[in-house]
Formats: sequence, C-alpha cells, structure tokens
Amino acid sequence: MQQKNINILAIESSCDETAAAIICNGKIISNVIASQSIHQLYGGVVPELASRAHQQKIIPVVNQALADANLSKAELDAIAFTQGPGLLGALLVGACFAKALALGLGIPLIAVHHMQAHILANFIEEPQPSFPFLCLTISGGHTQLILVNNYTSMQLLGETQDDAVGEAFDKIAKIMDFSYPGGPLIDHYAQYGNPKKFDFPTTTMPGLDFSFSGIKTAFLYFVRKNMQKNPKFIIENQADICASIQHTLIQMLLTKVKAAMAQTGVNTLALAGGVAANQGLRKALTQLAEKESWQLFIPAVAYCTDNAAMVAMAAHYQYLNQEFANLKTNVSPSISI
Ligand code: KG4
Ligand code: ZN
Repeated sequence: MQQKNINILAIESSCDETAAAIICNGKIISNVIASQSIHQLYGGVVPELASRAHQQKIIPVVNQALADANLSKAELDAIAFTQGPGLLGALLVGACFAKALALGLGIPLIAVHHMQAHILANFIEEPQPSFPFLCLTISGGHTQLILVNNYTSMQLLGETQDDAVGEAFDKIAKIMDFSYPGGPLIDHYAQYGNPKKFDFPTTTMPGLDFSFSGIKTAFLYFVRKNMQKNPKFIIENQADICASIQHTLIQMLLTKVKAAMAQTGVNTLALAGGVAANQGLRKALTQLAEKESWQLFIPAVAYCTDNAAMVAMAAHYQYLNQEFANLKTNVSPSISI
C-alpha cells in the first residue's frame, strides 16, 4: 500500500522577508519569498513597516506556495511558523496566520526556532553533513558557533557579545553611503580590491565569543580621517576599502572557527545564515577546510539568507518527533538556541 504524503506549509516572517514553503516527506516542493524593499528608504529595517508589509504579503505568498506545489489547503498535514528570534510584530503576523489556518483546517501547528532553521538549511540539498558537526551561524542578528548533535539538539559554544557580523557589514556599508542591506554590496566590490591595502584594529574576545562593535567604530574613524584629507577617498578606493574590511571580518570569524574545531575535535564544519552568502567567506573557508582536511558544507545562497524552505526543513524533523505547538504558544523575539 502506498504511504500517505505528509505535506507541511512553513511560514517565515521574523524580519523583512515574507516567505512560505511546502515540504512533502522531507523534500521542498515549493519555496516563495517576497522581500520588503521599503526599508531601503530608511537605511535599515523599520519594525512597524515590516509588520505591515508582512500583513499585505502573507496571503499572496502562501497562495503562491500552494499553487507552485499543486496542492490545496485541504491536503496540508501541518502548519509551521517561525517562533523567534526576530522582530515581535513581524513574528506575530506569521504566528497568527499559521494559528488561524491550523485551527481552520484542524491540523497540528509547529513552532520553529529561526536559528535552528538556518542550520537545517544544510539538509535541503545534497550533500549533507553528518552529526556531530560545528556550525558557524552568521546573520544580521546573530554570530554563533554551535555544536549540532542532531536535527533538534544544538549547543551554543560562543556568540557575539555586541553586534552581529551581518550588522557590522551593514553598518560599515552605511558609513560608505551604500544602500541597505550593504553586506552584499561590500562583497561585490571586494572582489575587485586588494584585501591587504588597509589595516583595521580588531578586538579579541576570550574563548569562542566574538565582538564586532569595535571594528565598526574603528572603520568610522578611518573614513572620517581619510575623507578630511581627500573628500573623494571612498569613491577612489571603494574596491580596496571593501576588500580590506571584508578580509578583516572574515579573519575574525576564521580565528574562532579554528579554535572551535580544535576544542570540539569534530571534523565537519557547516555554514548558515545570511552572511554565509558572502563569496569571500565561502572561498576563504573552502581553502581553510582543504588545508585542515575538514568536511565543509555551505548551503546554496538562496538558502543562506532568510527563507521558508529552512523553516519547512526544521518543521519536518519536529513533525517526525511529534513536537507540536498549540494556540497558546507565544512568539519569542529573543529565544536562545
Ligand atoms: O539571515 P539573514 O537573511 O537575516 C537575519 O536573520 O538577520 O541575514 C541578513 C544579513 C544582513 O546583515 C546582510 O547584509 C547579510 O546577511 N548578507 C551578507 C551577504 N548577503 C547577505 N553579508 C555579506 N555578504 C553577503 N554576500
Ligand atoms: Zn535569519
């Protein structure tokens, strides 16, 4: 007898992407994302505008995900949503929508941890890491080193004590007057520049923790000093500045990765989160992994930045463990892993 398909609809609304995906028996069959361009006008995500944009986009995005998967709502077996961390209002839109739909359809609800979902993006496509492995999880809000024991058990080994590395990329880009989010633009210009042209002081934190607020301030003073001497300093040195600051940020990450690999004794490293889309970092880690004989796993760029396929992947494993939420489950803007 043929087994019934298990179809889970997953919704992601933690920040400025409204996304929905459907997973059928562990395989992603649709993945839709609507980015909110409104924030570019303000140089960063405006929480209230994010919530309103989620409200406008959530129904068309979910309908598109169902249409792409060729499924009706009645064929869904569970609804998953991002519980946190993220922006309170933004999370609430996804959670309320998911709860209403699950209640209406009489099917279970699954609450997913956004950072666990980023890590499980490594299981969307082949090849996939085997447990245990170390994951460097780097986004606009987080910079973490996590020991991943299995699909649902993860241990935080170290994290940033102030700004996240994605935040540092974006704030540094803003100092150069780049539009938001500036991380991808720094990455783009860095390809054409000399990474050794400029030096920036870095802060070393004890153990496996990070700090990125100092380098952002050092960068601000560096730009001010040079612009006083030459008002065209940024425009004339754009590629070299981007390559040098990106190189410094990457080295700060790599130093802690090496320490964490040595401390845990694991031989497998994975990357996750929006900053994992950075081409310079992907290249540097590939070279380091080859030198150290580590197995390295990096999700496709579309699965590094916020998306609902990763939420669907996490929901799949929670469904198998029968880990269900209920209508009283609250969103949690600063939930830890
Ligand atoms: O994971 P994500 O999409 O959203 C959060 O959960 O925060 O990460 C967004 C962050 C932003 O800071 C963005 O600038 C950064 O990821 N980012 C990049 C690149 N692509 C996205 N940073 C550097 N290089 C990139 N190519
Ligand atoms: Zn994220």
